[in-house]
Amino acid sequence: MYYNGLHFRTIKMESKFNRTLVTAALPYANGPVHIGHLAGCYLPADIYVRYLRSIGTDVKFICGSDEHGVPITIKAKKENTTPQAIVDKYHSIMGNSFKDFGISFDIYSRTSSKIHHQTASDFFKVLYDKNVFTEEITQQYYDETAKQFLADRYIVGTCPKCANTNAYGDQCEKCGSTLNATDLIDPKSTLSGDKPILKETKNWFLPLDKLQPKIKAYIEKHADWKTNVFGQCKSWMDSGDGLQPRAMTRDLDWGVKVPVKDADGKVLYVWFDAPIGYISATKELLPETWENYWKKEDSRLIHFIGKDNIVFHCIIFPAMLMEHGDFILPDNVPANEFLNLEGDKISTSRNWAVWLHEYLTDFEGKQDVLRYTLCSNAPETKDNDFTWKDFQTKNNSELVAIFGNFINRTLVLTHKFYEGKVPEATIYAKEDLLVLEELKNASIKVAKALELFKFREAINEWMNVARIGNKYLAETEPWKLIKVDEIRVKTIMNISLQISCNLAIMAEPFLPFTSKKLFELLNIKPLNWPAASKTDNMVNGHVINKDELLFSKIEDAEIQKQLEKLQQNKLENLANTKPIEIKTETTFDDFSKMDIRTATIIAAEAVPKTDKLLKLLIDTGVDKRVVVSGIAQFFKPENIIGQKVCLLANLAPRKIKGIESQGMILMAENSNGELTFVSPIKNDIENGSVVK
Ligand code: 2FM
Ligand code: ZN
Repeated sequence: MYYNGLHFRTIKMESKFNRTLVTAALPYANGPVHIGHLAGCYLPADIYVRYLRSIGTDVKFICGSDEHGVPITIKAKKENTTPQAIVDKYHSIMGNSFKDFGISFDIYSRTSSKIHHQTASDFFKVLYDKNVFTEEITQQYYDETAKQFLADRYIVGTCPKCANTNAYGDQCEKCGSTLNATDLIDPKSTLSGDKPILKETKNWFLPLDKLQPKIKAYIEKHADWKTNVFGQCKSWMDSGDGLQPRAMTRDLDWGVKVPVKDADGKVLYVWFDAPIGYISATKELLPETWENYWKKEDSRLIHFIGKDNIVFHCIIFPAMLMEHGDFILPDNVPANEFLNLEGDKISTSRNWAVWLHEYLTDFEGKQDVLRYTLCSNAPETKDNDFTWKDFQTKNNSELVAIFGNFINRTLVLTHKFYEGKVPEATIYAKEDLLVLEELKNASIKVAKALELFKFREAINEWMNVARIGNKYLAETEPWKLIKVDEIRVKTIMNISLQISCNLAIMAEPFLPFTSKKLFELLNIKPLNWPAASKTDNMVNGHVINKDELLFSKIEDAEIQKQLEKLQQNKLENLANTKPIEIKTETTFDDFSKMDIRTATIIAAEAVPKTDKLLKLLIDTGVDKRVVVSGIAQFFKPENIIGQKVCLLANLAPRKIKGIESQGMILMAENSNGELTFVSPIKNDIENGSVVK
């Protein structure tokens, strides 16, 4: 590994790499961009790239819209338009949002472009000609009325695991299970509403099972990846039967046509073509030199993604690249976890999101406040929550009260004492030298954190510089000292200006708008990162510009407005949700077979390594038993001790995550998937009473 724990000189001067290609996941072009997208992938990628540019790395930053895949065709059908019209609309909305928030892609391309279709098609052909794929005939659902095969998302039915009647052919969004379309009970085509038939079809599969040893060796060479990424890769390979062959073509008409014979009506699987989009976008950006970034061993490839994309970037895409043979493999895949909003999962369909374009109308010119909040609270190692209250605190108590305050005091005093001219530092006292030392170290600390993809730590170290500056001013009190020791005040103000300048340099990756403005206030051209290790960037006698506030307070009323907007979305969503369908008829005899009892939860704890499960100890009045229940997202263990419940007591015991669950507690679930206990009204009813 080239990284040796030193600061930025490691990447630039001591690494085996001469150029870096950074990609950010190509977002599906079927909706606008929200804060979850920004925090998960685009903001960290942008910070990293800006930093690399600042240290002088040859770096290119690649992104674009992912314009294929079934959700886009479904959206087009719903809106009675074409998939092309959908992607045209969102490609431009998304591109604008990224630009507005300073995401500095070198190219924002799209996968419906000609160059991409050609590149993806050629890539497939190389693998096909090398006999990498296996051809398999499988039974797929087919809609006889619509006369087409049904992609997984075109089939709904009842989840065999949780009885949700609206599960998709690939996944149940209620219980999170991954499904095969043929697992669904009562499958229905969403095109015609008919029951689909099974029909044979041929597709081309990537034999990940055979490739597993090579992939495993590749992953194991990268134990330095973030633990969430490395861990997920290992568990994909080590659990169950390991990697399984995966179809790389689909029976669909929207996408890149499969470029071989006998493939009419088939397109490349969206997850085959999308990562190739990184290659086509690089080609489009650099028609002459793109191969340097993709094929030379001294190039470094880094994919920024969200956690739901890990398997595709760490296993499937590397497998494709390995089998192709001409390309380098990803060197790192820094994936973030998810960002929630006000304690709830961000959801496009439920409009539970903060949309970037809406944020900008409410907080014009405050892009950096959002960048700051999202970075300092980034879901780097676990899912995290965005709250408007926290956003306000980050702005008022940190950007305004610490950073803004320090800069403002420095600029105002420089004008007051020296008509805006940088004073000369002559004699340095011990505390001055200490502050200068801390300032030099700061650029190393921030750089080191950035190089290790620890963006929260990096931005915190940056803010610490402003904290140091504030403390320095508070302790030396130049506004008082000016009356008794003018020489010393010159040194203090000179140092404060050096701190301000270095803050501007180091702010650039995180807060590019603010950095630019601060350089303007200091009246100097933007400086690059290496200058942040110097303490004489502000030259004696240089005249700074008139002071202006960099940040202003966000009032409670503005936060309240955002909270009300979310509440309103929630209400509208509730009003729009369809009533839950009644299940098919059952008999009294069947119902009577169930032994439902009143009981009490007497102990509860989270099941390790799961987000959803709690292990409960239940007093049934007859015995005490363990029940594993999928309620962890709604209840904290400590809050449900003593809760009266109804228990299905004669459910056959089941092992869940190695724990034997003896029964099931009854819950009511609303159309939003929110759970509450079904519990007797009278709290003193004895445990073991029969519910009938
Ligand atoms: O999850 C998504 O939004 C995908 N469109 C990401 C694709 S990343 C890459 F492979 F293009
Ligand atoms: Zn389910």
